[in-house]
Amino acid sequence: MTPTSDPSLLVYGPRTEQLHEPLGVGEQHPRLSWKLRSERRGAAQSAYRITAAERADDLDASSRLLWDSGRRESGETLLIAWNGAALRSATRYHWRVEVWDETGAPGTPAQTWFETGLLTHDDWQAVWVGRDPHSAPPVEPPGDEDPDPSWGTPPLYLRREFELRDTPVRARLYATARGVYEPRLNGSRVGDLELAPGWTEYHRRVQYQSYDVTTLVREGRNVLGAIVAHGWWSGHIGFDPRRAAHHYGSEPAYLAQLVAEFADGSRQVVATDPDWTEHPGAIRAADLLMGQHVDARCEIPGWDTPEAVAAGRYQVAVLDHATGPLVAEPDPPVRVTRGVAAVAVRQRGPGRYIADFGQNLVGRVRLTVRGAAAGRRITLRHAEILADGDLYVDNLRRARAIDTYVTGGGQVEFFEPQFTFHGFRYVEIDNYPGDLQPRDVMARVLHNDVPRAGTFECSDPMINQLQSNIVWGQRGNFVAVPTDCPQRDERLGWLADAQIFAPTASRNADVSAFFARWMRDVIDGQDTDGAFRDVAPAVTIDREAAPAWGDAGVIIPWHLWRIYGDRRALRRSFGAMTAWVDHIRRHNPDLRWRRRTGNSYGDWLQIDVTTPRDLLATAYFARSTEIVVLSADALGLPEVAAEYRALHGGIRSAFIDSFVSADGRVEGGTQTGYLLALAFGLLPESLIPAAVGHLAAEVESRGARLTTGFVGTALLCPVLAEHGRTDLAYALLHQEEFPSWGHSIRHGATTIWERWDGWTEQSGFQSAAMNSFNHYSLGSVGDWLFGRVAGIDQTPGSVAYRELLLRPLPGGRLTWARAEQETARGRAECGWALADGRLTITAVVPPGTTALLEVPTSDPAGVREGGEPAAIRPGVLAVEPADAGALLHLASGHYVVSAAAPDTHTPPVSSRPVLFSRETS
Ligand code: BGC
Repeated sequence: MTPTSDPSLLVYGPRTEQLHEPLGVGEQHPRLSWKLRSERRGAAQSAYRITAAERADDLDASSRLLWDSGRRESGETLLIAWNGAALRSATRYHWRVEVWDETGAPGTPAQTWFETGLLTHDDWQAVWVGRDPHSAPPVEPPGDEDPDPSWGTPPLYLRREFELRDTPVRARLYATARGVYEPRLNGSRVGDLELAPGWTEYHRRVQYQSYDVTTLVREGRNVLGAIVAHGWWSGHIGFDPRRAAHHYGSEPAYLAQLVAEFADGSRQVVATDPDWTEHPGAIRAADLLMGQHVDARCEIPGWDTPEAVAAGRYQVAVLDHATGPLVAEPDPPVRVTRGVAAVAVRQRGPGRYIADFGQNLVGRVRLTVRGAAAGRRITLRHAEILADGDLYVDNLRRARAIDTYVTGGGQVEFFEPQFTFHGFRYVEIDNYPGDLQPRDVMARVLHNDVPRAGTFECSDPMINQLQSNIVWGQRGNFVAVPTDCPQRDERLGWLADAQIFAPTASRNADVSAFFARWMRDVIDGQDTDGAFRDVAPAVTIDREAAPAWGDAGVIIPWHLWRIYGDRRALRRSFGAMTAWVDHIRRHNPDLRWRRRTGNSYGDWLQIDVTTPRDLLATAYFARSTEIVVLSADALGLPEVAAEYRALHGGIRSAFIDSFVSADGRVEGGTQTGYLLALAFGLLPESLIPAAVGHLAAEVESRGARLTTGFVGTALLCPVLAEHGRTDLAYALLHQEEFPSWGHSIRHGATTIWERWDGWTEQSGFQSAAMNSFNHYSLGSVGDWLFGRVAGIDQTPGSVAYRELLLRPLPGGRLTWARAEQETARGRAECGWALADGRLTITAVVPPGTTALLEVPTSDPAGVREGGEPAAIRPGVLAVEPADAGALLHLASGHYVVSAAAPDTHTPPVSSRPVLFSRETS
């Protein structure tokens, strides 16, 4: 694959506020970004020009431009803030970016658009409406099939009829709920969003969604409607037995505004107001944790069309504004992104079947029922695991995860709940009429629809399954917030889980907007003393956050800067970050974090050992302080940086004094203790080799088994490989005996388990009190698969992969590995293969970036590229000898490097360590 064909610089993936063609942008100065592609080595952008206009045609008419940046001599492609005319609400803006390459030749431009939402409070005419407790009671369904009353009142079916004087040229719906809603218009569902408006700290912010409804409205009579259920607003949340009413409100409510625009430029607005009505419908109850109960006999056909019969409706009540301000949804919403067919359907009794989807996943089931008489009650129960052929549901705790469908008597009926979600691989369908065929049962997978960013593959099928398990765990746990687990009565935005997994998450998907949005909830949860909470939104757990949990409030904004170049997220978080560090310092003047440690979980779910909690806490105190230093530098605040640099030095000394002995031993002697000390740069240089020796001995003494929990696991393989123990890192990765990733895979895991011992031959299931089979935390090794096994990383000072560090790491049983990653600037790739004593590396370096490629080889002088000596090849800027190989400096482009295979017994020690703390040195 020598560089050829297309020599030009091509712009692709233009986005506004990190999103592709967003409909409801809420920022006054949205930020524009694009990516670059070129086959040519050394290609780079030398200049750009952004032009913007209200109509696409006007982009060519300079007099109608709203913004013309002019030609800017700059290689920047990321997050350039709108600097044109002030933006108006509910308006579409088209923008184009032209680029010039490093020779001054024009590249291929790209064009896109974004639309503003309702930018000011005054744009809103809508009021909150909900059930009027004084109106007549809802109609009861026939029979005695009503669900458990603890699920709360039935969802609201809301409607409002209105006349449009003409067919609009453009119509938008802006809508939200206290609860979860499905908007309806003239008998159709509007859009494809699920569980909108998602979960935020509602007292501080409620997100609204924007929909293009131009094709759904018409001149004359129309009906705007919605179904609204309790959701996170007033349903069950977490393990709190009380419904969310305890946290937010007791009943759902709705707020919507339709803006129709006519050819003459005039507008007509239809908004929630006292003229809306409400009635019960087929969905008798719905709760995120419990399930959904539908009685098709109660369906009022055409209820959301002008033709519906008016009987049985009640006037709504107008409710107060008990919630925070309305804000435009800034990140990819939850959607159903795929269906998964049943791989097997087994009959377990008369009318009772268990369908297996072959994959632990998150979403719901779509069931087809044929020819049943009205009134047949079919139940769907969900489980992740089978025990003796039946569903194992003990680990769901109080979450019932049961959907019920009472048939309406149609020829063919479809059931798919929309206001609940379950974590499951198996569904048991009971009282199904006739033979259940696999085609009649389909799992529908839902999650925040973040764009896929990376793939990893290697020669070992077990590790490929591990990567698949990581990706599925991410998918299933990115539902409105980053959750710990999707199945039991928990599903909370636990901070440690999120910070530990964020590096891996951003390998697999573009999670920039998702985490930036969730960070607002993390910050909203911070108290006046500077303490974050363990979970965000901050419900259920009232204590100050624990070490490694609260630190997410510091780590994630830094990560958003490093990976995506999101300076704004860092700046907006910076006050909260320093407040958190100050909080710890204030209560721990001796700089050992022992007081105010909240629930101090330590290295949560470690196995057989206990890492001293004050050691872990103090290590994280140092790490957060260090990130504050780095962030202050990045934000141009040298005095602040100096203050925290001194603090960091003090914490490091306190750590050494308290926990490190003269022979390099770390108190407690656990793997995690050593990992924290090494990864966070807390040891004196002279003690590092000894500490690595103790760590390695600990791992070896257990026959290459780990003892790490949530915190330590993320550091395990990276630290060992970094310090010359690639052999051990791979031994752990390949390990199939308990405890290991391989152990769970050998026992059929298709997602990452919460606990290493979720199920063992010896003891069977772990306690059902806490045993999720879909928890992403221990999947934090994914970052290392991409960053080291395949080898895509960036240098310590690099932001948004401007300077790649490509570090393929042949080792273990692998004969090849390969990763691709859509970085913020363009696509990067690194892969390697060993054959016939040669190592071949393929690398793709996006335009405008450079790379350092470490070539592990026993013959550094013999490194070739494209079949010739590397040093004479175009794009190879320099070749340097390194510890056990060569270091190539590469310009952008595609490369095929080959060299004699490395000596397997002396794997290369990096010439440039990249782990954490070295960043400050
Ligand atoms: C959650 C974890 C969380 C932990 C804190 C568990 O119940 O599932 O993911 O981090 O509690 O101890």
